[in-house]
Amino acid sequence: MSTFTLTFAPAGAQVACSAEGSLLDAALAAGYFPQHSCRRGECNACEAKVLCGEVAYPAGFVPEGVSAHRVLTCQARALSDVTLEAPEVAATPGQRVVQSGARVLEISHLSSDVAWLRLQVPPASGFSFHPGQYVDVVLRDGSRRSYSMANAPAADGIIELHVRALPGGRFSNHVYQKVKPRDMLRIEGPFGAFRLQDTAAPLILLASGTGYAPIASMLKAHLATIAARGAVLYWGGNRLADLYAIEEIEAMQAQHPGLRFVPVLSGSDAGWTGRTGFVHEAVVQDFPGLSAHEVYACGNPLMVDAARQVFTRKHGLDEDNFFSDAFVTSLTLRPEAGPPAQPRALAN
Ligand SMILES: Cc1cc2nc3c(=O)[nH]c(=O)nc-3n(C[C@H](O)[C@H](O)[C@H](O)COP(=O)(O)OP(=O)(O)OC[C@H]3O[C@@H](n4cnc5c(N)ncnc54)[C@H](O)[C@@H]3O)c2cc1C
Ligand code: FES
Repeated sequence: MSTFTLTFAPAGAQVACSAEGSLLDAALAAGYFPQHSCRRGECNACEAKVLCGEVAYPAGFVPEGVSAHRVLTCQARALSDVTLEAPEVAATPGQRVVQSGARVLEISHLSSDVAWLRLQVPPASGFSFHPGQYVDVVLRDGSRRSYSMANAPAADGIIELHVRALPGGRFSNHVYQKVKPRDMLRIEGPFGAFRLQDTAAPLILLASGTGYAPIASMLKAHLATIAARGAVLYWGGNRLADLYAIEEIEAMQAQHPGLRFVPVLSGSDAGWTGRTGFVHEAVVQDFPGLSAHEVYACGNPLMVDAARQVFTRKHGLDEDNFFSDAFVTSLTLRPEAGPPAQPRALAN
């Protein structure tokens, strides 16, 4: 197996990589966090410019919407030394991705289809996370499901997850119906580059369903900062019962009036007099110009994609100020995104 060097410009950080694994995995294993979200070739969050070198995708993988000389690092493999443009990558490594057992401390039902899980990750594992990141739960057959932390990071290794039971969903229904305190899960993480940027820009926080989880983590960790910048949280669901943490948000709002909350329902709910329709459309009704804002969007991939397109193409949002985690599921996977096979030359 040939080993190559992957360099991130402009910081100059270097990691070893090979054609056996993705560029992103090589970076994460070494403690570097280039932009990424789904790690499955679906969300394009990991798109980066190849400054030099030759890379390839696994046979059968066809990226969508990626410009010339740019690649999806979660799928691309190195065929030579490679340099990527990734201004977000620091010169020195940070967090490490760790695999660990996690014990279920508590589980409860937040709504008719959302479970709240409180897990203990042993502090000795070295696991830590930034608000907005997620972990993979590794199932017995080796398949994985990703869930965002919903609490603020804590030194005791406690993490909280919001898991929505999808119709026909294998793991989420197992969690909702069968998981109980003292059960053990296997987790790997943290993953994800979705995190609050250190600027003064006013914020639009946009969530659908359990997309609230990473936003909740950010709010709990950085509430005073977020409110001081001025923030509006738009949370969309089909029914009022889908917005399972309204009291929690109202308590934060009461504490910090700089945070405003706009619940939006897409279905009909008897007696509902609040906002209705698609949640991203409610944003542009209130903010036709978004050029001064940062937007943090999480949840349904269709909503995240629509928000990105509408906000950046029609409402002046800078593409670089749209931060997102699309909750891609096996249903949203592209049919051609099969398992890795022999790489083929792609670009240099
Ligand atoms: C970065 C990231 C963060 C995430 N964070 C969260 C979170 O915080 N909370 C959360 O609830 N979810 C989150 N998700 C989604 C989560 O990872 C799982 O995808 C989700 O829970 C479904 O897993 P499952 O095993 O229940 O469903 P799966 O068994 O994987 O099925 C998913 C859906 O596809 C359908 N399906 C599966 N196979 C087929 C098929 N062959 N034909 C037709 N339909 C099919 C199922 O019926 C189901 O509706 C996140 C995803 C990503 C990528
Ligand atoms: S496409 Fe690579 S992280 Fe989503």
